[in-house]
Amino acid sequence: MSNIVVVGTQWGDEGKGKVVDLLTAGADMVARFQGGNNAGHTLVVGGKKFIFHLIPSGILYKDKKCFIGNGVVVDPEVLLQEIQDLKAVGEEITPERLALSDKAHIIMPYHKAIDLAREAAKGKHMIGTTGRGIGPCYEDKASRVGIRAVDLTEPETLKEKIATNLEEKNFFLTKFLDSDPLELKPIVDDYLGMAERLVPFITDVSVELDQGIKANKKVLFEGAQGVHLDIDHGTYPFVTSSNPVAGGACAGTGIGPSQLHHVVGIVKAYTTRVGAGPFITELEDATGDYIQKQGQEFGATTGRRRRCGWLDLVVIQDSVRLSGLDSLAITKLDVLTGVEKLKICVGYELDGERIIARPASLKKLAGCTPVYMEIPGWQEDISEARQLDQLPPQTHAYLETIEEITGVPISIISVGPGREETIMVQDLF
Ligand code: GDP
Ligand code: IMO
Ligand code: MG
Repeated sequence: MSNIVVVGTQWGDEGKGKVVDLLTAGADMVARFQGGNNAGHTLVVGGKKFIFHLIPSGILYKDKKCFIGNGVVVDPEVLLQEIQDLKAVGEEITPERLALSDKAHIIMPYHKAIDLAREAAKGKHMIGTTGRGIGPCYEDKASRVGIRAVDLTEPETLKEKIATNLEEKNFFLTKFLDSDPLELKPIVDDYLGMAERLVPFITDVSVELDQGIKANKKVLFEGAQGVHLDIDHGTYPFVTSSNPVAGGACAGTGIGPSQLHHVVGIVKAYTTRVGAGPFITELEDATGDYIQKQGQEFGATTGRRRRCGWLDLVVIQDSVRLSGLDSLAITKLDVLTGVEKLKICVGYELDGERIIARPASLKKLAGCTPVYMEIPGWQEDISEARQLDQLPPQTHAYLETIEEITGVPISIISVGPGREETIMVQDLF
């Protein structure tokens, strides 16, 4: 396989960072294609933990090039901080190792201010966004008033655009959201300063990837969030503002669909969700608390406690269809150790009928009840397993159920956060 796409199949935090880091060993280039610093991708390498919000999770390999595609929204302060943090641990991030698309949209202070003020105004109806300005930045992109990375290379254009936008945003912030206005000069000074440091990284990512692909280089595409947070296909409006589905890799980096050869869906062995929104298999009991504790389910970006529940195969089957999954990477299987009886949701019932896909209507979704299959759990610590035959038989039953119902083979099984805590069932590259 030459080019592989990694996507989250649930509501984010499936372990994409770990899998991308792992697969980067076989790749030459790694490209993020959507989302922004709402993402938090965790890697544990040599016992050291790294959390990346914007920089692709392949960055720890010195000889591979990482790309931030046009589909990503970039907070320059966060990007510079990540570069700085890597420098502090001995990783010099140069333009040979990292490139930023000239067409990526830039998150501005007014995007964050609007995100936060809007959520506050919604009160109990809030989406539970990460407050990073993601939605408002994508809104500006769609409204065709956004500021792009290329504008950072032209100080006069940048100043003009900020001034024009700020006038409208301040009106909205003060008159509608009852919030404070932002001052122009500090924003301009700040962004001009950050622009100088980022300009060397800015390039045409589509052209560079194309050149790499033509030179037989292998590309790994890193998705953020998950299919059910997709703005089109997710649990709208409780979604993010981009397309985490595999198709997003094309629009978000500027390569054609014929260049994608394999799509890996990352499936957490149970389900989590951070923020508000429907969650059919949510466990609001001691088992949910146990999984939350064992899995250390706290958001890598906001530190919020993640809601936990049983594995939902309706969700995964939707993702198989929506992202054309070729294989599955099952993560955090070790977390389920010690749960006496495991449940897997194999379908929903609505008005006495079995349905095969999550309905678009939230009202209908609220009326769905999960149909569960029960599987005996296991008590053994499985974190040392490196081959399939080192796993207890109950885990095989759990994994086979996933394969049978989704019709998709499992290529990777993750049994711990560390790079080495993995069973490679299939060599993907
Ligand atoms: P991402 O957003 O999809 O990259 O996932 P996050 O990094 O937000 O959350 C996944 C969390 O689970 C991180 O803390 C990882 O270090 C951790 N993790 C990943 N795979 C495994 C695994 O197989 N077992 C355990 N116990 N932890 C894992
Ligand atoms: P990774 O890449 C989990 C959720 C937020 C909120 C909704 C909208 O680490 O899997 P936004 O700030 O995007 O407007 O918030 O989406 N959300 C995530 N949940 N993992 C993520 O990323 C997420 N990125 C956004 O909690 O419910
Ligand atoms: Mg995460």
